[in-house]
Amino acid sequence: METTALQQRVDTSDLELKVRSMYRDVALNPKGEYHFEMGRRLAEKLGYDKKDLDNIPPASIESFAGVGYFFDLAGIKEGEKVLDLGSGSGMDAFIAALKTGRTSYVTGVDMTDEQLDKANRLVEDFNLDNITFVKGKIEQLDFDDAAFDVVISNGVINLCPEKGKVFAEIARVLKPGGGRMAISDIVSERQLPGNIVCNSTLWASCIGGAAQENNYKTMIENSGMQIVMIKPNSAYGFISKSARGATEQYGVKSISLLASRV
Ligand SMILES: C[S@@+](CC[C@H](N)C(=O)[O-])C[C@H]1O[C@@H](n2cnc3c(N)ncnc32)[C@H](O)[C@@H]1O
Repeated sequence: METTALQQRVDTSDLELKVRSMYRDVALNPKGEYHFEMGRRLAEKLGYDKKDLDNIPPASIESFAGVGYFFDLAGIKEGEKVLDLGSGSGMDAFIAALKTGRTSYVTGVDMTDEQLDKANRLVEDFNLDNITFVKGKIEQLDFDDAAFDVVISNGVINLCPEKGKVFAEIARVLKPGGGRMAISDIVSERQLPGNIVCNSTLWASCIGGAAQENNYKTMIENSGMQIVMIKPNSAYGFISKSARGATEQYGVKSISLLASRV
């Protein structure tokens, strides 16, 4: 199923403006108040290795707004080419680059200028030549077929109304037979009702766009990938009252998922 009828009813232009505006704030004002936790405390809670965090630009960690940990599933090896979708201020891309080594490369894609500017400034400041951050929408990737070994993404696909398109693009840019997708994202146990789905602020906060888990898995498998493993990120939780209410009622939760390109 591409999107549910309810998800088709959300005003997508308003939503995109809200998403850009929220993640502009996340890049520029990481100490602000949001529906979700951010930064190093969150990263450590989710399971990130302290040594990895000590070896990447600290400013990328302060704006980290991911929802889970997937590097244990991704198993990135030296020399592999990695694509990070919705790379934000770059924390996961910087960690991926520690694993690929200086001879390979990591590319991050994001649609929010302030996130890209911050990530690119850190690339320059830290003199890293194996990472590039480019502007783009993850529903339509500007890369060749089979260009990457691993696609990663953290807390992003839930924000996209056309999730089926995103998974089809991921499958297209992954190398067949060995290419893999390792992501963390928000899904729901029960279908969310219209008043939550059509609330673009809750959507931009990673709640309203959460697909029902079985539909989410079907969209992945319909795109030409096979799900290998799913694990819950039980340490992840929303912090505002309205967000917590929705999550408790509909089983909105974070998962990490590994899928391989068929
Ligand atoms: C929740 S943040 C996560 C950022 C980063 N992955 C992290 O863990 O900190 C979501 C990011 O996805 C980007 N984004 C959302 N929808 C997108 C889309 N359709 N195409 C490209 N980027 C998108 C936003 O600009 C934002 O930087």
